[in-house]
Amino acid sequence: MLKIGHRGASGYEPENTIRSFKKAVELGADMIEFDVHICKSGEVVVIHDEKVNRTTNGRGQVANKTLKELKKLDAGRGEKIPTVEEVLDSIGKRVTFNIELKGEKTAEPVYKIIKKYIENFDWSYDDFLVSSFDYSKLKEMRGLDHKIRLGLILNKFNKELPKFLKDLDIYSIHISRKERKILNKNYINFLGKLGVKVFTWTANQKGDIKKLKTLGVGGIFSDYPDRI
Ligand code: G3P
Ligand code: CA
Repeated sequence: MLKIGHRGASGYEPENTIRSFKKAVELGADMIEFDVHICKSGEVVVIHDEKVNRTTNGRGQVANKTLKELKKLDAGRGEKIPTVEEVLDSIGKRVTFNIELKGEKTAEPVYKIIKKYIENFDWSYDDFLVSSFDYSKLKEMRGLDHKIRLGLILNKFNKELPKFLKDLDIYSIHISRKERKILNKNYINFLGKLGVKVFTWTANQKGDIKKLKTLGVGGIFSDYPDRI
C-alpha cells in the first residue's frame, strides 16, 4: 500500500513547497502529490489554488503573474513557489510523483515535461501519475500518450464510472475518504477486477487511516505520511 504525501508533508511544512516534499521523503512517503497551474510566462508552477492569496504573502491570480513575479512571494518559511522541473530535480527518483492538473491548459505542458525527463534524463513512465478531477484534462493527456498513467479523482460516486475508467485506460481512482458508495470492500474488489487501483484522500487521523487499510485500498493520501 502506497504512502502518498499530500502536497508533500503539508501537515508539517508549507504545502506544495520543496521543503514539504523533502519532508515527505524523510518521513517515508512512496509518492508525492502536488497541484499545478500555468503562470503568465508559461511555466508550470506548483500551487493548489488559482490565486496566490491563501498560500503566499501575495495577492492575485497565478495566471496573471510571471514566474519572476511569483518567485518574489513567500510560500511559507521563506520557501518559493516551485516549478515542476525544480521539484523533480531536487527530489529525484527517490519517490514517484502524482501531478494533479488543477489549472486550465496544464495537460500538454505537463506532458512535455514528463516526456523530457523520460527521453533525456532516464526517468520512466512509472515515475509519474497524472491525475485530475476534470475528465477532459485526462482525456487530453490520454490523447497525447497512451502509456502515461492516469488517475481519476472523485469526490462522489458516478454510475458512469466503469465506462470512464475503460475509455481512458485509467490506472487509479482517487476517492474522497468520505465516499462510502465506492469505499467498501465489494466495490473495491469490483474495481480491482477491472485492473484499477483505489487510492483515498485525505486521511490524517490515525483511526481513519486504520479503517482505510482494512478496506484494502492501494494507497492513502495524507498530510502526515508518517501516520500511514
Ligand atoms: O488528489 C487528491 C486531492 O489532492 C484532491 O483534493 O483539493 O487536495 O487537491 P485537493
Ligand atoms: Ca491535490
